[in-house]
Amino acid sequence: MERLQKVIANSGFCSRRKAEEYIEQGKVVVNGKRVEEHGMKVNYDDEIIVDGQLLNAKEEKEYYLLYKPQGVISSVSDEKGRKTVVDLIPTKARIYPVGRLDFNTTGLLLLTNDGELTGILTHPSHKVEKVYRAKVEGIVTPKEFMELKNGIEIERRKVIPTYVKIIKKNETSNTTSLYIGIQEGRNHIVKKMLLELGHEVLKLKRESLAFLTLEGLKPGEYRTLTIKEIKKLYSLK
Ligand code: URA
Repeated sequence: MERLQKVIANSGFCSRRKAEEYIEQGKVVVNGKRVEEHGMKVNYDDEIIVDGQLLNAKEEKEYYLLYKPQGVISSVSDEKGRKTVVDLIPTKARIYPVGRLDFNTTGLLLLTNDGELTGILTHPSHKVEKVYRAKVEGIVTPKEFMELKNGIEIERRKVIPTYVKIIKKNETSNTTSLYIGIQEGRNHIVKKMLLELGHEVLKLKRESLAFLTLEGLKPGEYRTLTIKEIKKLYSLK
């Protein structure tokens, strides 16, 4: 069982805050009953209607691994009419991205209409590792490397990378390329950590998520997940 606002948010319908608003306004109906209480817990197969729309219509579950290119936004729609990650996958299912990558970040992004799996992958307690390759301005010194390894405090919470490796220090272009693995899901977290260290991120690519990689894909391409991979993702719970 999960909190109602979390299940609504994990379905990709809206943010958790917006879901709380809908609940407070009495616009949420669970299994035919209008929700009046706070902190209600539900199952992913309960019938949930938000603002008149059925949330979890019995739709076949679909799972995609996309190599997100630059210049595409990680959401279902964009009020400025920009291209979204959902536009890159031809399906009628109501899929949405699991977490987000910035407009200019490239790399591995999962899309699905499975709210339960989204909940598993984005819940901080499940510690799903994501590895990024970053190119930053300036040369990262051995002292800064140690600082990064020991963790960087972002908005009063320390983020300790699971993995840090310098790939290349380029004196000519005054840049450093490195790998950084994190279990965090906060927005812009890698950029914030490296900026805190004194290095602006010039390029960012998500290389992997848990055991999944971009192998065999080019930017803009996608593939479906295998049953075995889906089961393995569920077992991260
Ligand atoms: N961290 C960032 O700063 N940006 C991303 O797109 C992903 C993680």
